[in-house]
Amino acid sequence: MATDPVEERARQVEAQMTDEERIGLTRGYVTMPLLSSEPPAEARTGAGFVPGVPRLNVPPLWETDATMGVTWLDGARGSGATQLPSAIAQGATWNADLLEEGGRMIGAEAHAKGFNVLLAGGINLMREVRNGRTFEYLGEDPLHSGLLGGAAIRGIQSNNIISTIKHFAINPQETGRQIMDARISDANIRESDLLAFEIAMEIGNPGAVMCAYNATNGPLSCNSKYLLTDVLRDDWGYKGFVMSDWGAVESLDFAMAGLDQQSGAEFDEGLFLGEPLLEAAQQDEAWSARLGEMARRVLYAIYDHGLDTNLPVETAVDAAANEEIALQVAREGIVLLSNPNGILPLGPDVESIAVIGGHADAGTMVGGGSSRVFGDEGPSITEPGLRAEHATYASFTDPAFNRSAPLAALREMAPDAKIDFRDGRYASEAAQLASRADIAIVFADQFMTEGFDAPDLSLPDFQDALIAAVAAANPNTIVVLQTGGPVTMPWKDDVAAIVEAWYPGARGGEAIAEVLLGRTNPSGHLPITFPADIDQTPRPVLDGQGDITPSFFGKGAPGQKISVDYDIEGSDVGYRWFAKQGATPLFPFGHGLSYTEFEYGDLAIEGAENGSLSARFTIKNVGDRAGADVAQVYLVSVDGETRQRLVGFAKRELAPGASAEVRVTFDPRVLSEWNGNGWTAEAGSYAFALGQDASDTDRQVAVSYAGIELDEGGNRVGTKASQ
Ligand code: BGC
Repeated sequence: MATDPVEERARQVEAQMTDEERIGLTRGYVTMPLLSSEPPAEARTGAGFVPGVPRLNVPPLWETDATMGVTWLDGARGSGATQLPSAIAQGATWNADLLEEGGRMIGAEAHAKGFNVLLAGGINLMREVRNGRTFEYLGEDPLHSGLLGGAAIRGIQSNNIISTIKHFAINPQETGRQIMDARISDANIRESDLLAFEIAMEIGNPGAVMCAYNATNGPLSCNSKYLLTDVLRDDWGYKGFVMSDWGAVESLDFAMAGLDQQSGAEFDEGLFLGEPLLEAAQQDEAWSARLGEMARRVLYAIYDHGLDTNLPVETAVDAAANEEIALQVAREGIVLLSNPNGILPLGPDVESIAVIGGHADAGTMVGGGSSRVFGDEGPSITEPGLRAEHATYASFTDPAFNRSAPLAALREMAPDAKIDFRDGRYASEAAQLASRADIAIVFADQFMTEGFDAPDLSLPDFQDALIAAVAAANPNTIVVLQTGGPVTMPWKDDVAAIVEAWYPGARGGEAIAEVLLGRTNPSGHLPITFPADIDQTPRPVLDGQGDITPSFFGKGAPGQKISVDYDIEGSDVGYRWFAKQGATPLFPFGHGLSYTEFEYGDLAIEGAENGSLSARFTIKNVGDRAGADVAQVYLVSVDGETRQRLVGFAKRELAPGASAEVRVTFDPRVLSEWNGNGWTAEAGSYAFALGQDASDTDRQVAVSYAGIELDEGGNRVGTKASQ
């Protein structure tokens, strides 16, 4: 096999290092303004720091979070950054090119703020609908998350910086995140969460993988030989390095399982990949060899992404240009959930609008935790004290809003309408205002943060009652949601329209106003299923809830452990679970309305060069407005047995009357099942549907497929049978 020049270079440089220098690359300092620890002088306020080796021209690693941009850290860095909409909003765009552009932008900002590692690439699937971090991830489907996540990572890394992909590999709930064991079979995890990582890594080539806090089938994920060595190295041939999450390491042994770097070591009980590793390496050949390998992997990522060629130094960023990208992501990520009588978009004849609740006068909601980004001026509002018992991390976990106010944007874009605002604290007052206006718009939100799950799927703070009161007072009530994940909507049939805006980022207020007024034709589609009821989900009761005292790190009481059975749904996450159960969700995966209409030409399924299959069809805009459609192709059954999987999708922007020819080739892994050593799609009759969401499966075509065999790395080893 030809040698990889990057690997060769890493080998040559590592060979010149002392053990002390090697150790330098395996331990990360915390650089957040949270602890009293003192990182080395060259460290920069961010998330972490790993010293370089100046003698050999090896640069330090200056690390910052995260998937939505360069984090705010309570203003401790002295400047803000451009806030992309939440990752789930990015997922709702179904637009890989746009995610790549967003990634390029936040990567450039990270570099311009002095960082060369961005702790981005959150890609875990939404297995748990109450998960506090759903807003940091892209959705519930491995193909969708893999394609979009890979594009975002590629964009970030186009700036001579490393992006992580995280949290390897299954990290579905925050409740007890450090004492939770995710139980799942090899086949089930390979076909779901691991597949999302695998696809994203093939596209994005992240320099680092961050292992998760929780355990996977026994050992903690950062101590899982199965994940970090068998899958990542042996099956996938990954060459970068594995860093731990902050405070996820418990002993030196983690290194033998495949962990290359102990990040945020001050959050751990001890610095294991420091002095103890050095001692082990000096006494034992196996440890010495392992230390060399760890250092080489860090060097590999540094050279592979040219970190040594372009050191990050503080330079000015064009905030206005970057905010335009955030605005475009918000426009494409907002999902029009319901609009039965076409009340939206609001026309020029609307004379009066009552805007209610959600701090719409101040800004749009921002998720909490390590990923929190604000512009230079910080939040407009922070709701105090909600997590008073976790005061150390309050600035991370209190509900907060940016400065992009929907109210101001509506007033600016509809100057002739009389627009009044009430904060919604009193339903009677809100209803009174609504009863006197042509249109009422209620802004409702669900704050979510790392470290905590939602206890249930309701909107908090009695907002359901507020919406019901306003809807009773005015039939033209529109609800704009800003949520981290799915919520239930007991008032769904009583309101005239529902818009899901997620946490829409730096210019979210404008994006919302544009959608409401029709300046933007919505094109977002749900990347997750919204259940009608928690009882429809695989785990109506959240494991650990009530038993574990909520806390940021989710460590529970001494000795406390829980395990969660993810084989209940197995690889049938989200819409696949609903299809198997024959359950009807509130809104299906893939759902999203437009102000125009699209029609599909006949679906043709054909063979593809990769031994897989492909779909060909046309999309036509048959309405009277320009708009973008997200056409989705699902496998629905094999030999008559339900097996629903998203196998391809295409987003197309079309002028009225225009049509587009689309061809999508299916990744053979999504047609297949994991067989223990690779992938097998059995020969059989495969039925596919072309639709606008996961429940829109009437346009079906069945073909006889010869099947395929792939090895553990996804390479073709043959067809199963002759056609
Ligand atoms: C999070 C990671 C993050 C790290 C560093 C942890 O709490 O789980 O996603 O990158 O902190 O801030």
